[in-house]
Parts: sequence; C-alpha cells; structure tokens
Amino acid sequence: MGVNPSLSARISGVGAFVPPKVMTNHDLEKLMDTSDEWIVQRTGIKERRWVEQNVSTTDLGFEAAKAAIADAGLKKEDIDMIIFATLSPDHDFPGNACFLQDKLGLAGIAALDIRQQCSGFIYGLSIADKFICSGSHKNILLVGGEVHSKGLDRSPKGRAVSVLFGDGAGAVVVSATEVKDPKKDGHIIATNLHADGAYAKELWLPAPGTGFDDPDRMSMKMFEEDMHYPQMNGKTVFVHAVKRMCETLVHSVTSSGFSMQDVDLFLFHQANMRINDKVGEVLEIPAEKVFNTIQKYGNTTAATIPLGMSDAVKAGKLKRGMLVASAAFGSGFTWASGVWRY
Ligand SMILES: CC(C)(COP(=O)(O)OP(=O)(O)OC[C@H]1O[C@@H](n2cnc3c(N)ncnc32)[C@H](O)[C@@H]1OP(=O)(O)O)[C@@H](O)C(=O)NCCC(=O)NCCS
Repeated sequence: MGVNPSLSARISGVGAFVPPKVMTNHDLEKLMDTSDEWIVQRTGIKERRWVEQNVSTTDLGFEAAKAAIADAGLKKEDIDMIIFATLSPDHDFPGNACFLQDKLGLAGIAALDIRQQCSGFIYGLSIADKFICSGSHKNILLVGGEVHSKGLDRSPKGRAVSVLFGDGAGAVVVSATEVKDPKKDGHIIATNLHADGAYAKELWLPAPGTGFDDPDRMSMKMFEEDMHYPQMNGKTVFVHAVKRMCETLVHSVTSSGFSMQDVDLFLFHQANMRINDKVGEVLEIPAEKVFNTIQKYGNTTAATIPLGMSDAVKAGKLKRGMLVASAAFGSGFTWASGVWRY
C-alpha cells in the first residue's frame, strides 16, 4: 500500500440523534438538592436528554450513523471501517463498534472503539484522517455516543456530577477526496492530540476495574464506596480545560497557516458554557462564531462535537466550504483540536 500525497479526507456526511425524553433542571430538582438557578449560572445547562431504560449507546449511535451515511449520499455498504468513541459502552467488551456493526449489517469491516472521553471525537477524526490518507480505506463511519444517565448517581449525593451530563450520539462519515481548491473543497487540515495521565484521577470512573487490591473487578466494597459512579474535581478540570483548549486550538489554527480570524465557525466540546465563554474571551473570538448546544443537551462527552456539527448545519450556521476549528478537553486528562474545511 503506497501513500498517495494528493489524497485527503473530508467530512462527507454528518448525523445526530438524541433520545426524546427531556430532563429539565426542574426535573432534577425533584431528584436531588439542586436548583435551576445553580445549574444555569454554573454551567449554562437548561435541560438534557435521558434514554428510556431499554435503550443503549449503540441504539443512539445507530440512528446517528444512518443519518450521517444518508447525508454523505452513500449506502451503508460503502462504509469500510467503524470507529466508535464512547465512555459508556453497551457492555464492557466487545466494543460498541462491534455491536453497531452488527446492527448495520456490515460484517467483515474493521470495527474499533476508542476511549478518549470528551476528546474522543477529535481523536477518532484524526485516526480516520490517517487511515483515509494512507489509501487503505475510503469511507469511515465515526460515531461519538453516550448514555450517561444510566451511570450517574441520581440520588441527592450525586448532584455535583449528575446535573452536567446527558445522553446523545453524533456521527460523521470521513471519506477520501482529492482537493483541487483548498479554499473551497472540504478536507481535514489538521488534528492535534494530547494527554497527561498524571491527572487521570481528577475525572474518572474507578470501577469495575482491575486497579484495586481486590480479587474481583467489582465488589460490594466498591459499590458501598460509590466507586461505580464518576468522580470529578470540578475546579481542577475547569482550569485545565480553559488552558489546554486555548493552547491546542491556537496551535492547530496557526500551524495550518490560518489566523483565528480566518475561522468561520468554532465547534467546541460542550462541558460547561463558562469554559467555552472563557476560551472565547481569552482568544477574542466573537460569540456569533461559536456554536454551543450545552443549554439543551448538557455534556454528551464524545457526542458533543458531531451533535453540534449536525445542529449547526440544520440551523444554517455551518455550510460547505466554511473553515471550522474545534477543541475538546476531558478525562485523562486528554485534549485535542482540529481544523477542517467543511
Ligand atoms: C462542576 C462545576 C460546575 C462546579 O462549579 P463550582 O463553581 O466549581 O462549584 P463548587 O464545586 O465550588 O460548588 C459550590 C457549591 O455548590 C454546591 N453544589 C455542587 N453541585 C451542586 C448542584 N448540582 N446544585 C446545587 N449546589 C451544588 C457544592 O456543594 C458547593 O457547596 P458549598 O459551597 O456549600 O460547599 C465546575 O467546577 C465545572 O464546571 N467544572 C468543570 C467540570 C467539567 O467540565 N467536567 C467535564 C469535563 S469534560
């Protein structure tokens, strides 16, 4: 397999799906000691979606995937690899890409899960870009999907984390292309990926896992100590998120030969409106160039960016030929950014 230097990857289709059940902040007030005012002031979130109990992450991903494939003008048989980014898989193993592959009826093609949490979509985009540009694959389905609601502590003691997250999925198809006019033709221009595992335990889900002095991956002791719920040091996450998103975004944009002013639309990970407002303030980005969805979906982790992309297209804010810059930060810590012409 030789590498064709004129080969590029572009986002040929985008789709999204959120479950219909809306959970407003007022709904959460009935479950835990919180208030609409606290949540809106601290995070910008007004509502999020929660699945019914018989719905899984790949059920959401399946709907998003079908929409993305249709948007690309392809048949599902044109897809030659599936990448699924999630921290809330249907089962511990095998990965969600295998379950989704079966739902799509695409036996035989490569199926890969990645676990980069809130940075998962950009990590996945980077992997898809590299596979396409190597010439080995032509149309890669990349899905970011989460069912957080089933993994949250929905009791009063879970309020610090549980109000932040929601369920949803977004998908893109990344396809091979030859760029004739780089100012017009869609193509992925840059992706930059980072991590610092020294902060792994600042935002993590300890159990089930083999990292305990315990003969079992899951024990009553872990249950009793709430190790099966996500644990987060919110203030540390906030400070690092702003710093790292600014750094990596500027690096991706400027190392691609653009200025921040050249960017038509910024699609940031949606963890907290205050994080995105702060990034916008530090980098002097006009608010109208940032497309946020956190107010209606909360933090859907690996799904936030494709979900935002899909909503931005539907809202007429993202059109073919526009220059998009994206940045994400999350558990790991991981952070990543990308620039593409849509
Ligand atoms: C989580 C976050 C909103 C908390 O905001 P904060 O200003 O740091 O708030 P604090 O943690 O200092 O809590 C302030 C008070 O509100 C209380 N509180 C926490 N959650 C609450 C809730 N849902 N409702 C009401 N009160 C709450 C705290 O107990 C604390 O009370 P105290 O002062 O009596 O101790 C904020 O730190 C944040 O967004 N961090 C980033 C998190 C994130 O993005 N995670 C995902 C990354 S991908």
